[in-house]
Amino acid sequence: MEKLHHIHLPVHHNIILSEFLRFRLMETDRTRLRILLFPWLAHGHVFPYLELARKLSQKKFHIYFCSTAINLSSISETIEKNFWDTSIELIELHLPSWPDLPPHYHTTKNVPPELKPKLLEAFQMSSSCFSDIINTLKPDLLFYDVFQPWAAVLASSLGIPAVHFSTAGATPYSFGHHLFTYGNANFPYQAIYIQEYEMKEMNFPPNIKDADESYVFGNFKRSCDIVLMKSCRAIEGKYIDYLSLLSRKNVVPVGPLITQPTNEEDDSEIMQWLSKKSQLSTVYVSFGSENYLPKEQIEEIAQGLELCDVNFIWVVRFPVGSTIRIEETLPEEFLERVKERGMIVQGWVPQAKILAHPSIGGFVSHCGWSSILESIYFGVPVIAMPLKLDQPLNARLVVEAGVSVEVARNKNREFKRDEIAKAITKVVVEKSTGEGIRSKARELSKKMKDEEEIAMNETSENLLQLCSKYKQKQ
Ligand code: UDX
Repeated sequence: MEKLHHIHLPVHHNIILSEFLRFRLMETDRTRLRILLFPWLAHGHVFPYLELARKLSQKKFHIYFCSTAINLSSISETIEKNFWDTSIELIELHLPSWPDLPPHYHTTKNVPPELKPKLLEAFQMSSSCFSDIINTLKPDLLFYDVFQPWAAVLASSLGIPAVHFSTAGATPYSFGHHLFTYGNANFPYQAIYIQEYEMKEMNFPPNIKDADESYVFGNFKRSCDIVLMKSCRAIEGKYIDYLSLLSRKNVVPVGPLITQPTNEEDDSEIMQWLSKKSQLSTVYVSFGSENYLPKEQIEEIAQGLELCDVNFIWVVRFPVGSTIRIEETLPEEFLERVKERGMIVQGWVPQAKILAHPSIGGFVSHCGWSSILESIYFGVPVIAMPLKLDQPLNARLVVEAGVSVEVARNKNREFKRDEIAKAITKVVVEKSTGEGIRSKARELSKKMKDEEEIAMNETSENLLQLCSKYKQKQ
């Protein structure tokens, strides 16, 4: 078993930093190729990167994982509990210390929504610290995320190949690349479309001159030969192929990267509650790690749940620092009326573990990519309520796959209780429709699981080839 190292780098003390790391490097197994992973500071990025780190470590790569102290402290817990057999070193990234952005805000999970742009700005300014890190470690490969194309530039100036690893799926990217390439919306696959108002929220720049410098296209352009994607062919094979064609990069799906549920929390209140419910009787309702619904929409969801004959676990999140209490946002006496069949949790729940539970029959979801993959992986159909960004396209993808029903919005683009109830009923309650959707979800789940190991072997093979190509060039 290899030891875990938690390295705290001193700010701008490069000599100490170099000596400290040189010592560490001597300890590293030199036969392993060394990959530096550098995710954006959001939960939905850090954890897929970490799961990829674990899998690559099992394939005999040595991993350096670079993030802020606050992110490293939460992942070191996960590593110590679940990844004892890995070769992962944690490397601390320092952001500029601004009074309104204290270290515990150096993660999107804690930062108040209005300070998110500031966090992104501070992240961009961490490039000199990152430059120290990559110069000292001199890894064989860098994986960089969506908001730091500059990391790829730094790597290539040192002759280190850099690969973009995207935590979003291929369908929205192929849609965006199509718009960028052809300047129109005639995407060749009709099941995938977006409404005009959704387009504005996606921030795709079809015709802008500096698109090559943009996060989306610039990242693809700078990636050496391949782009890695948290995805699988079972769900979006044709969109992966189309994206490879348009971007002229070999888009390699690495698998769904699900953090496997552990048994430690089996005695938790949620699991006990869930275990008393009958099979497939319960919907899980969640809008992800960084979306907050307005009071009116929370009310509509509550009324929608009340209208249908299902049990439910609903996670409600409010922005950090908010003093709102759940009861204030719900219809009067709602909690009393649903107390036998509903559980509402404010904050955070073990999502993968809930989805893996046999009582869960559907997932009312905003269609964040990780939520989609987790739902299908555990064979749970999706009741789609996409809000913004890639979510509408992810929703259309799972509808096309036959494992989801999308909730229709009214003419004011709001979700209303009747449509929410209709979609839940169609998926979970009605035998005529529900059985077909469930059996498709089971089928897709099996395909996804069958593909997982193959995908990781192919990824590993691609990385070895890339490293040897660049070593020969030097
Ligand atoms: C963001 C963007 O909003 C979305 O468009 C993009 O596709 C991914 O990043 P996010 O809210 O993070 O989405 O959702 P998602 O991708 O679904 O990831 C959420 C992750 O947090 C999942 O892995 C989920 O299991 C986990 N989670 C969320 C919990 O474990 N518990 C919770 O209570 C909430």
